Amino acid sequence: MRLDRFIANHKRVSAFQVRLLLAQRQVRVNGEVVCDGSRGLTEFCHVQLGAEILQERTPIYLMLHKPKGCVSAARDAQHLTLLDLIDPALRPQLHLAGRLDFNTTGLVLLTNDGRWSRALTEPQHKTPKTYWLQTQDVITEDYVASFAQGMFFAYENLWTQPATLRILTPYTAELTLYEGRYHQVKRMFGRFNNEVLQLHRLAIGALKLDNTLAPGEYRALTPAETHGILAVRDGSLIDRLLLSGCVQR
Ligand code: URA
Repeated sequence: MRLDRFIANHKRVSAFQVRLLLAQRQVRVNGEVVCDGSRGLTEFCHVQLGAEILQERTPIYLMLHKPKGCVSAARDAQHLTLLDLIDPALRPQLHLAGRLDFNTTGLVLLTNDGRWSRALTEPQHKTPKTYWLQTQDVITEDYVASFAQGMFFAYENLWTQPATLRILTPYTAELTLYEGRYHQVKRMFGRFNNEVLQLHRLAIGALKLDNTLAPGEYRALTPAETHGILAVRDGSLIDRLLLSGCVQR
């Protein structure tokens, strides 16, 4: 939103009064006097009018080691949810940047920054997500080409993005997907009638799950991790988010 509209809405004053306040150098954004009403604001800009703080919101970015048997949702009548694992003081602000199935373990991100989570989860951005998995039957070399080619998902009427499968042992593999379709890993192995017995997310973009976190534990991302995860595949996007004050170096 533009600064002048933000002040007019917040203080219920006219556009003329806003121009006056700006000309009187009464408005500060992130500590600096701003006279240009057309300046863009994000939800995380600190905005001050004289001594009065009009907006003060801190962005939060967390990585969580999801345990088995936990729902990727804010509320569930029967089961523990990922939000139940987070400090109650932070919970109301947070949402998940992508989900994992009930019995899938590994890296999950939580934030109060909608632009950041959209940048990570929208399929057009093609953020890589890397999984370790174990199957019921042997994974053979012909899977690799099939995953790389993409598979037709009739329900969504689309072809999956080329995925990278690296066979580790006859029953285990590392898989990198560039999108996050519903039950995607299990459905892709399902094409070979091969059940996925264990699924663990190792990384999202450049960000690897911190192996000092036990299942159920979480920690804040560093600023470098927060923007590094986006930079892995889209330099222009990270520049736009930095300019708008959405992420900090
Ligand atoms: N694909 C799946 O099938 N399950 C997950 O939890 C994540 C990706």
